[in-house]
Amino acid sequence: MVQNIFAGKKVVVGVSGSIAAFKVAGWVSDLTKEETIVSVVMTSSAAEFVTPLTFAALSGNDVHTGMFCHGKEDSMAHISIGRDADLVLIAPATANIIAKLACGIADDLLTTMVLATRAKVLICPAMNSRMYSHPTTQKNLKSLKEVGYTIIAPACGKMACREEGEGRLAEWDGVKEQLAQNLSPQDLQGQRVMVTAGPTREPFDPARFISNRSSGKMGYAIAQAACRRGAQVLLISGPSSLACPPRVTLLKVQTALEMNDAVLAHAANSSVIIKAAAVADYRPEAVSEHKVKKEKIAKELILTRNPDILLALGKRKKKGQVLVGFAAESTNLLEEGRRKLLEKNLDLIAVNDISGDTTGFEAESNQILVISASGVETLPHTSKLHCADLLLDRVQQFLNKKP
Ligand code: PMT
Repeated sequence: MVQNIFAGKKVVVGVSGSIAAFKVAGWVSDLTKEETIVSVVMTSSAAEFVTPLTFAALSGNDVHTGMFCHGKEDSMAHISIGRDADLVLIAPATANIIAKLACGIADDLLTTMVLATRAKVLICPAMNSRMYSHPTTQKNLKSLKEVGYTIIAPACGKMACREEGEGRLAEWDGVKEQLAQNLSPQDLQGQRVMVTAGPTREPFDPARFISNRSSGKMGYAIAQAACRRGAQVLLISGPSSLACPPRVTLLKVQTALEMNDAVLAHAANSSVIIKAAAVADYRPEAVSEHKVKKEKIAKELILTRNPDILLALGKRKKKGQVLVGFAAESTNLLEEGRRKLLEKNLDLIAVNDISGDTTGFEAESNQILVISASGVETLPHTSKLHCADLLLDRVQQFLNKKP
């Protein structure tokens, strides 16, 4: 049931001769688990480091190694492999393969296939740092960028040659995110999307606060999905242990008042605002400068109302701006959602049930009821990332409709 951007996509992985080829075996394994259809093309030097059998076993497909493996391979493999690929990833890319690609040399299956494909090409260089920084390699990389290939910069650190510097194969998490972006529709390009996430903390002394169970997972997933689809994303987050998704701008806040200031300061500049944060409705009226001794804590805490940020956004909504709220409910989901949609002047509201373990707070998955003026839709129970994409599909429809 859980779908993802990688499922069913055709990715060709071109492996050239570097010790880092063994890491790419793990990448192929991960992509295969994501249900990507992976075809591996290896140069003869790559096969000195890792056997084709390893890649065949991990991808579940035959590995292509030579132009002239008569009888065994498609005689037009150099054309057919890349013809209907969604993406070609060259990893690790040695200085030699980069130089050949930059000059249009096609003297083996991998280089010929790259010349013949019209799919997007991503290149992950991996080599000794002096080879990487050599003006010739840099000039070749620049040429490849100019023809529209994406170069994923190598990492810095200790290398197999026992030297340290820039040239280590990039880490898989970052590469995978680049693949996801390149496989995603870029239908939010040009949009400035503000997402709020996580809880707020309302302190009453330096050690104690009132908060809620929000982990930030839903909001961070929306930020990640919007960024993959080409939006410029500002994520305003309460305390959360999650890492900021790549290329998303993160603004961290603690309290509802801080979130209010940050959100209102950036609202006018946002074409889409999605408020997944669980903002505390109240805060302690008095905040002690020092930790209060337990004997001195009043049995009843006096609270004061926090501003309703979403209500304020609804009042000042700009023409063409799409405003999306969330509602965390345990009963009367539809009624509560409809009430908040109208009360806060929203375009859409996503209502989630917080009474179970598999939706709402802290869960890895979610199921939302999306309500707008034109009706109600119950979306499937799925991962938060997929749920975010489904919600963004609805936002996208709204953007298309708005003048
Ligand atoms: O972070 P996770 O663990 O992944 O959990 C996800 C979630 C359950 C927090 C999320 O999916 C969600 O439902 N977020 C909204 C929670 C909430 O505060 O709901 P509410 O019904 O109290 O508020 C309705 C809307 O008003 C929300 O968009 C909220 O951001 C906004 N609000 C509320 C109070 C306030 N003072 N200011 C606001 O802007």
